[in-house]
Amino acid sequence: MPMVCVTDFEAQARELLSKSTWDFIEGGADEGFTRDDNIAAFKKIRLRPRYLKDVSHVDTRTTIQGAEISAPICIAPTGFHCLAWPDGEMSTARAAQAAGICYIASTYASCTLEDIVSTAPRGLRWFQLYVQLDRQLNKQLIQKVESLGFKALVVTVDVPKLGNRRHDVRNQLDLKTNLLLKDLRSPKERNAAPHLQMSPIDSSFCWSDLSWLQSITQLPIILKGILTKEDAELAVKHKVHGIIVSNHGGRQLDGVAASINALTEVVAAVKGKIEVYMDGGIRTGSDVLKALALGAKCVFLGRPVLWGLACKGEHGVEEVLNILKDEFHTSMALTGCRSVAEINRDLIQFSRL
Ligand SMILES: Cc1cc2nc3c(=O)[nH]c(=O)nc-3n(C[C@H](O)[C@H](O)[C@H](O)COP(=O)(O)O)c2cc1C
Repeated sequence: MPMVCVTDFEAQARELLSKSTWDFIEGGADEGFTRDDNIAAFKKIRLRPRYLKDVSHVDTRTTIQGAEISAPICIAPTGFHCLAWPDGEMSTARAAQAAGICYIASTYASCTLEDIVSTAPRGLRWFQLYVQLDRQLNKQLIQKVESLGFKALVVTVDVPKLGNRRHDVRNQLDLKTNLLLKDLRSPKERNAAPHLQMSPIDSSFCWSDLSWLQSITQLPIILKGILTKEDAELAVKHKVHGIIVSNHGGRQLDGVAASINALTEVVAAVKGKIEVYMDGGIRTGSDVLKALALGAKCVFLGRPVLWGLACKGEHGVEEVLNILKDEFHTSMALTGCRSVAEINRDLIQFSRL
């Protein structure tokens, strides 16, 4: 049977992956309340379509941080892609390049950054940083990503401590062993990729440390994991270049708002001064449209990319991206939007929110 929507990939990935890998990808923190809410919140939003507009040409292209992408649908950082497909992040990078969208490589990528770049040299890439305790290590890593042509540094702020993932504890999942077995093949490679060693995240990192980060890189800095207007205002004050509204796919603090519900507050607080993106619960093209109507410049996908990878590697990721792009195109046409710039808040029925 053909796979026609993102949830078809989810169902097949579930059959193909081991229980512990499935649980690792799918799991939320604690009771999984926020993880589920990310999806449910989208379904509560209703659209207000406009008709009798010429939608014979619909253009899904847009820009993020000045770079053009074929649609506002990009790839969020997720670790350990080799758990889902043998050459892991290399497949993801090729699919992203083919789709003409941005791929954020994780600090916990299971392929070396050199391999990710050399397999898809023309792709637009950002690097996600979990700030490491060892400041020198951060510096080395940032210098490396700069020299490899990554275009932005995405600093994840919602993991001062790892959330409580019950499934992983029950399954006794040991990602360190997994990474070391699969990907740290030789001492030479180990030295070439210090980020693979899962050194401790710096839980003392705070707003005043951002200037240090800014002093060691020319790259635009994007904060991932902001959920409140207070932090959004601080982000603007500290001169970062963008925000990803995110609750880490419900994997960190259970009980926080669905990302799509937090988006409005953050967008209002930044007053257009920096770009705002979001991730969490995007499963259809109309979800993308809703996020853009509420002020996101672009959305990022976490689990759907891993499902695509688990089903068919690079081609699975490409299919997932193409399905969402096609659905987004349809949603634009059916709401009367010919360009991404025409998507606005009038498309949302606020009386039902
Ligand atoms: C298996 C998995 C691994 C993840 N690893 C990272 C990571 O290394 N760094 C990070 O900032 N976020 C990580 N995330 C969070 C994602 O970037 C993103 O916020 C989330 O998956 C979006 O929700 P979605 O899965 O509903 O699309 C991970 C998420 C999953 C599901």
